[in-house]
Amino acid sequence: MNEYGILDYKREIAALLTIEGATVDELEALIVPPKDPKMGDWCLPCFRFAKTAKKAPVLIAQELCDYVNDNLPDFLDRADAVAGYVNFKLNRELFAKSVLTQAIAAGRDFGRCNEGGGKTICIDYSSINIAKPFHIGHLSTTVIGAALYRLYGFLGYKAVGINHLGDWGTQFGKLIVAYKRWGDKEIIEKGGVAEIMKIYVRFHEEAEKDPSLDDEGRAWFKRIEDGDPEALELFSWFKELTLKEVGRIYDRLGITFDSYAGESFYNDKMDAVLDELKQKGLLETSDGAELVRFHASELDDNDPSIPEELRMPPCLLRRSDGATLYATRDLAAAFYRKKTYDFYRCLYVVAYQQNLHFRQWFKIIEMMGYDWHKSLEHVAFGMVSLEDGAMSTRKGRVVFLKDVLDRAVQTSLDIITAKNPDLPDKEGIAECIGVGAVVFSALINSRIKDIQFSFDKVLNFDGETGPYVQYTCVRARSIVKRVDITEEVDYLSLTGDCAYGVLKLLSTWGDALKEAGAKAEPSVVTRHIVDLAQAFNAFYYEQRIIDAPTAERNARALLTRCTADVLETGAGILGIKIPDAM
Ligand code: ARG
Repeated sequence: MNEYGILDYKREIAALLTIEGATVDELEALIVPPKDPKMGDWCLPCFRFAKTAKKAPVLIAQELCDYVNDNLPDFLDRADAVAGYVNFKLNRELFAKSVLTQAIAAGRDFGRCNEGGGKTICIDYSSINIAKPFHIGHLSTTVIGAALYRLYGFLGYKAVGINHLGDWGTQFGKLIVAYKRWGDKEIIEKGGVAEIMKIYVRFHEEAEKDPSLDDEGRAWFKRIEDGDPEALELFSWFKELTLKEVGRIYDRLGITFDSYAGESFYNDKMDAVLDELKQKGLLETSDGAELVRFHASELDDNDPSIPEELRMPPCLLRRSDGATLYATRDLAAAFYRKKTYDFYRCLYVVAYQQNLHFRQWFKIIEMMGYDWHKSLEHVAFGMVSLEDGAMSTRKGRVVFLKDVLDRAVQTSLDIITAKNPDLPDKEGIAECIGVGAVVFSALINSRIKDIQFSFDKVLNFDGETGPYVQYTCVRARSIVKRVDITEEVDYLSLTGDCAYGVLKLLSTWGDALKEAGAKAEPSVVTRHIVDLAQAFNAFYYEQRIIDAPTAERNARALLTRCTADVLETGAGILGIKIPDAM
């Protein structure tokens, strides 16, 4: 039995066999599904035992096979020896019973476990910049981070979601200048970030003609730093407006954070880090600026004589004018998080373009002698671009995430209206499908891949999409609703290849979740539920369910129910809701 109470077949098979010089663990690791599923459910290649046993693999396989068939345990139907492999056929009836009994008992909690044992995982995600638009480029960090947040909770960790707001920098001084010259309180109050952007763009245009504006901007930023009430009031107002706007998107996406401690939060926490660096002899002063070097200054950053992890430019931590940097804040934030949350892992869901930044300051923590540098991870992801010309990021034109969501929802509404005009609450369902489709599209590929977003593709009900998973789940639920499942269950009716395909995916659900957690890779979950949806649809097209004889009907309805549960749980972890009807 594994920890989900399901028969652990690889383990059981391995325990059954005795091979000279091979432990049960080693055997288990060698057992794989055969290339051709017709050959069996599991197989063991015998080639590597030949040397120790001084026997040909074909012979070893034959002997093992004979032994298994003579001592057949009830979880196996039989073994076959083919060309140096032993192929095992499971007793699929028992398999079906084992998987479904556990899955039914666990319901929506199937796959939940306590791997984490309450250990804390900090996740830095979304981490938007104040007074800047929330655009399509923020989609991945936001939905990947939120999916990991839910996933780790499901695996028994205590997840801490942190929105490391970009709320510091001279641009806020410039913004105040722009606002005081050309801003209108009411217009900005109403138009939000889009209006803030307008005056900000205007500032840059005007500053080109009149560079004194930049000085003015710096002066206002200084006033923010010094705590001048007027400056602070404007600054907090920009912040409030931005947060209100993204808050609406977070609500639509079902995303929450435990902390909004942004860059400005670390203003008074950086000196301590810089002092410690100095004291440890790691901080170098160069032309009044302070930095950490990873190798001798006379060597080129790519010099092959430098160990690979040190081949990087120095990390600037304080400019000669005294200003601190993005990296300085991240260092201070890491110490703060370690002290506050005592994390077991601390993840940064940030685009791969910031690779160097994370490599540099992770290394600094290591150089400072902190072993927990190993628990810092840059969870990098690729770029999102739009295929559709009408919404492409033309020069200076940003694609707001809100517009992408709105358009996906509108298109969903059009599709529903055409296909199923009498559906109640069409708007609510369209919201669910449109938003789900966008979220799904950011989570189906391994995160490091660049993605090209296409409205047609993500809303294709027959593709590997959010709507496809939602639709399959809705259909499964409606089948279950129509069956009054009674005690009499014929598991033998679930031994065909299609049913077995579904059962296999149900049986590995818990492992998929753990793999996703270990790799910080939500796409493992996405992939698993799409595969399950496809396997279920194949089963559904092949088998009668509702009008089958009672015991068969019950068995198939149970399989259907477990499928719906896993689809809904999985979608929920990813941040995709399942509508009541579609
Ligand atoms: N605000 C930054 C940006 O938009 C991302 C911050 C990521 N988090 C961090 N701790 N550096 O580029």
